[in-house]
Amino acid sequence: MDRSGVEAVKARVSIADIVRRYVDLKPVSGRWMGACPFHQETKPSMSVNDDEGFFYCFGCQASGDVIDFYSRINGLDFKEALEQLAAEVGIELSNVPRDPHAAERKARKLLLLDMHNEANAWFQRNLQVASGDTTKRYLADRGMTQEVIDKFELGYSPDDWHGLANHLKSKGRTPDQGVEAGLLSKNEKGNIYDRFRGRLIFPIQDLSGRVIAFGGRIITEGEPKYLNSSDTPIYKKGDHLYGLNLARPTMTRSKRAILTEGYMDVISLHQFGYTDSCGVLGTALTPEQVKRLAGFCSRVDLVFDGDGAGRKAALKSSRMILLQGVSCKVVLMPDGEDVDSLLQTKGAEGFEACMNEAPDGLTFCMNTLRDEHAPRDIMKWAKSFLSELSETALQAYYLPRITKGLGLSEADFRRDAGISVPPRNTIQRSRQAPDSQMQQATMASGKENKDDRYFLMFPIQYPDYVSALAERGFGHILGTDWAKALWEKIVSTQPGQIMNLLNEQEKGFYIRCREEMRENILSGRDLLDEWEHICNKIASGQNKLDRRQLKEALHQAQQTGDSQRVMECLRALNESLGRDNEQH
Ligand code: CTP
Ligand code: MN
Repeated sequence: MDRSGVEAVKARVSIADIVRRYVDLKPVSGRWMGACPFHQETKPSMSVNDDEGFFYCFGCQASGDVIDFYSRINGLDFKEALEQLAAEVGIELSNVPRDPHAAERKARKLLLLDMHNEANAWFQRNLQVASGDTTKRYLADRGMTQEVIDKFELGYSPDDWHGLANHLKSKGRTPDQGVEAGLLSKNEKGNIYDRFRGRLIFPIQDLSGRVIAFGGRIITEGEPKYLNSSDTPIYKKGDHLYGLNLARPTMTRSKRAILTEGYMDVISLHQFGYTDSCGVLGTALTPEQVKRLAGFCSRVDLVFDGDGAGRKAALKSSRMILLQGVSCKVVLMPDGEDVDSLLQTKGAEGFEACMNEAPDGLTFCMNTLRDEHAPRDIMKWAKSFLSELSETALQAYYLPRITKGLGLSEADFRRDAGISVPPRNTIQRSRQAPDSQMQQATMASGKENKDDRYFLMFPIQYPDYVSALAERGFGHILGTDWAKALWEKIVSTQPGQIMNLLNEQEKGFYIRCREEMRENILSGRDLLDEWEHICNKIASGQNKLDRRQLKEALHQAQQTGDSQRVMECLRALNESLGRDNEQH
């Protein structure tokens, strides 16, 4: 990763400005505070430090720089977040492998996005004018309020073969561009015409709220009932979730996603206050979609029809979610209902009743398997489930629950399935990456760790003292490897640059120190006292080290019978002990 791109982005983007898009920030004694979007919180627990470019939550300890914040809240990986922020502020990322067609591809994508934007505005306008009256009535009959119609930017495509085609033309787009965008269709004869005709239009948006595709429901007679955009360079079926951009703010707070099948289901859920709802968009749930959700929430409530097909889909979907280590619930609708019809007829209470009955995902899987499948299928399911888990550590979690759910003995199952799940603690140890060892170290409470945490806080909080500390040999008083490594990094960089060198745990510790300092900043006599205390520690640490060396020298001198050297060593040892006493 080229650091200069990261640096340039961080220098150009204000973290407070970015955070403010998602969180209400208030100034509190020189910094910004708001409710943390990464855990359930209404009180302002998150502090945003615009000068130093990081955020820190006192509640859940979430922390990081602007790219960390942006990637986490948008469910993006670091690179994607960096690219989006860079694009926003017009920075060219030179480290991106040179793709000769990159610029062309990017321009094409922008063109497609622009055309979707134009089409969206046009569809929306058509719902407002007289030709949209039937659709407006249809929506009203289905109980949709103006508020959700606006929120979801619903529109109408007139029953006309060239309405959108002409509109795009007026915007300077060619018919072929319209076809590439999936907004127009071309028949064998080469004739180009509107893809969506006489339909209620649901724009599909990406996480940044850009329209990337459409779904259209027929409102009179005709087939198919729903027509969706086909795949284009800006839209891939199975990658997106309907309404996710609107649901995200609630999801990051509730840590839950309600996942349902239909467009109307999502809209009704929002209308009835379930604003953490989104939809799978006409395909079976995909692992990409699950990963997206896993970035925001720890639980997914799956809403499915209660019929055979619905239960089958629920089994597959909950398996996929559990495999990612995310928990889920399976909410089955009463016969002949979907969430939309249930909410519109029985209100939130009707839906709550179903939610209260909903089993958790694993229980649902176990029950469905037991009730509906042959023993050999059940065993096959359990074995493949355990072998496909995204993290081996999850095996230890699921194995006893699965065997219990299936009424099997754990040992029998393990033998039969050829699974060797070592006892829990060995799994954890063997799986530990260096970073998590580091985390354990920075979190641990052993005496040596505690001392090191305490000592390191000083140079982190008062960077002006770093070089003076280094000269005095500060490194020697640190006992643990993680602390020594962090000190090395502190010594070798400017305070403004250090964040780039730190791994996740170091960053967490560093930011925690900076933030705690804001609560209790030392100055004047107090700061001097603290400085002297640390200097004494260094000196006595140095003394201990000296004494160890002197003792070795003394031992050697005694062995070789060098009596003069023995005397020297004894004298020096005495002095060292005296110095220590002065310091305490
Ligand atoms: N779907 C689709 N293409 C179809 C049929 C369905 O993409 N030909 C998707 C749509 O996202 C639809 C969902 O599957 O919303 C569920 O379909 P269905 O249950 O048939 O429709 P509802 O969502 O209940 O639609 P409505 O309430 O308007 O009848
Ligand atoms: Mn429906």
